[in-house]
Amino acid sequence: MLEDLFSLEGKVALITGGSRGIGQAIAVAFAEAGADLVVCSRDRHPPELENTAEQLRSMGRKVLAVPAHVGIKEDVANLVRKALDAFGRIDILVNNAGGNTSLSTLVDLEEKTFDKVMEINLKGTFLVSQVVAAEMIKQGGGRIINISSVSGLRARNDGTGAYCISKAALNMMTQVMARELAPHHILVNAIAPGSIRTALSRVNWADPERLARRVREIEMKRFGEPEEVAGIALYLASKAGSFVTGEIIRVDGGEMI
Ligand SMILES: NC(=O)c1ccc[n+]([C@@H]2O[C@H](COP(=O)([O-])OP(=O)(O)OC[C@H]3O[C@@H](n4cnc5c(N)ncnc54)[C@H](OP(=O)(O)O)[C@@H]3O)[C@@H](O)[C@H]2O)c1
Repeated sequence: MLEDLFSLEGKVALITGGSRGIGQAIAVAFAEAGADLVVCSRDRHPPELENTAEQLRSMGRKVLAVPAHVGIKEDVANLVRKALDAFGRIDILVNNAGGNTSLSTLVDLEEKTFDKVMEINLKGTFLVSQVVAAEMIKQGGGRIINISSVSGLRARNDGTGAYCISKAALNMMTQVMARELAPHHILVNAIAPGSIRTALSRVNWADPERLARRVREIEMKRFGEPEEVAGIALYLASKAGSFVTGEIIRVDGGEMI
């Protein structure tokens, strides 16, 4: 009964930015729950993407790894076409690819940097969701999970303004899509992680002084691990989350209380 609640047996999941960090942890959790997987990244650090795919295959799952930039429409079309050629359907989409490319106040932020941050975090999620949701409508349902951030819930004054704006807009995209897609039995939710120990957040945990400053704001007094985000994604992807849509779930050790 409990296993059934969280099982992804027979499901196909597409995870963007699945080669490392939070996306990789979600891919491993989904593989453990029985899903077959498509993982993508820009493949900036070969053989990271292929190594992750091999790790997932060694767990007995069918896995396709596709290099793709989520902000480039042709890459997205190729990614989804390859996923459908290989598996015939996509039941779960995790829009995890994202990041920040600069530290600057908004007044000093260059236009091209603003565009880049929006491209990765916002437009990429929009492009992938649009194509995959169209397939899910044909299939009769699905789940979309956006990896947002607590930075989209409270303004920061540390040079990550464009990132904050992109994640706040992503939260609204989640809720608009949840409303638009509910009649098609597609549930759309977001996870808002706080400080999670990955390559992306290295700047905040590798330096002891910055780490101490950041941890002061977290009630649990530590960074989270990528695996601690994966369980929430599994909940939202499985039968356990079957009446949840338009939700933004914080996973932040109490940072935003
Ligand atoms: N770590 C945190 O503290 C934290 C907190 C809140 C929210 N988040 C969010 O969690 C998500 C994952 O972050 P993370 O910390 O796991 O970062 P990470 O360790 O840097 O991993 C990012 C993943 O996304 C891929 N990626 C980046 N840009 C891409 C693009 N344009 N197209 C396709 N793939 C792309 C990366 O591979 P390539 O570089 O090879 O493309 C990698 O697989 C992001 O959306 C981030 O904003 C993280």
